[in-house]
Amino acid sequence: MSTLAIATAREVFELLRDDLVAIEQELGRDAASSVSTITEIAEYLREGGGKRIRPSVLLLSAHMMGFFGQSAIRLGTVVEMVHTATLVHDDIIDGASTRRGRPSTNTTWGNEKCVLAGDWLYMQAFRVALEEKNLRVLDLLIALTQQMVEGELLQIQKLGKAVSEAEYYDLIFRKTACLFSTSMRLGAVLAGASEAEETNVATYGRTVGLAFQIVDDVLDLTATEEVLGKPVASDLREGKTTLAVIHAWDHGTAADRQLIQRVLDDRSFEHVSRQEIQEILKRHDSVAYAMGVAERYAEQARQALAGFAESDFKRALLWVPDFVVAREK
Ligand code: IPE
Ligand code: IPE
Ligand code: MG
Ligand code: MG
Repeated sequence: MSTLAIATAREVFELLRDDLVAIEQELGRDAASSVSTITEIAEYLREGGGKRIRPSVLLLSAHMMGFFGQSAIRLGTVVEMVHTATLVHDDIIDGASTRRGRPSTNTTWGNEKCVLAGDWLYMQAFRVALEEKNLRVLDLLIALTQQMVEGELLQIQKLGKAVSEAEYYDLIFRKTACLFSTSMRLGAVLAGASEAEETNVATYGRTVGLAFQIVDDVLDLTATEEVLGKPVASDLREGKTTLAVIHAWDHGTAADRQLIQRVLDDRSFEHVSRQEIQEILKRHDSVAYAMGVAERYAEQARQALAGFAESDFKRALLWVPDFVVAREK
């Protein structure tokens, strides 16, 4: 296989197939608690699938730098479990009714049980991570979890207000990009990579992660629930302004801003419709602007890998930013 050809989804999946199967098995083992409600919730989440993109980049990072041991499976499982725990809590906070094309866990089990199941999942992730007996790994995971919680909290503090672009990037770094960055870094730690290599893959993770959340936020404005598998047009209704809306706010007329603020205040499209908001975004090319920023981050991610030797794993990592920007769910 030419190392120059662009990888495809199928090739990347083939490259990681055995690892991803092993991670699914590990996730299954780790979902078991002596309390049946927790096992049910953890199993339900695992069965719901998901893209498994965080473990995938961790595996690719480790493999690109020559590490193929069992620890990559273990830490891949850990980052997916941390991700899952944040989803459980996020859906409670956002009052979301669907996730991965099915009723969200809070819809099925209620908020109280899901807060606790989320806590349990975080701790289970740390228990698995502890098996590495590596303080650096724990340090990274603790800093990560605190960043993610801080990100969600900052978001709550800013609800209902049009945030600045700088505030938006800070927020999405914490709540999303930090996990991508940490996943890449963990791959480097396992491989015993140099500080410079670790910094480069962390930059890759940060920029891919920023692009990932920008696109998630665009999809909230443009996709259908059927395709996305989770609620759409929900960010504004929850009082969150995301990049395209921030752009329209900054470039719009006073009347445009008033309409956006009305949705933020009402927390609904009762007085101002979703179509009216989409019309404003269209007039200012705001979705194209947000996608342009995502594409720039994707390009930065690819550039961060420039110093690594060519390999199928590197090719796969070069493909991920394209996937992230072009995805429909
Ligand atoms: C959803 O992440 C949460 C965000 C950070 C936007 P994913 O889109 O990776 O969710 P799954 O795991 O594929 O369901
Ligand atoms: C992602 O933000 C937050 C997490 C880190 C879980 P969103 O609230 O936009 O994620 P979705 O759209 O519900 O998946
Ligand atoms: Mg949400
Ligand atoms: Mg979202």
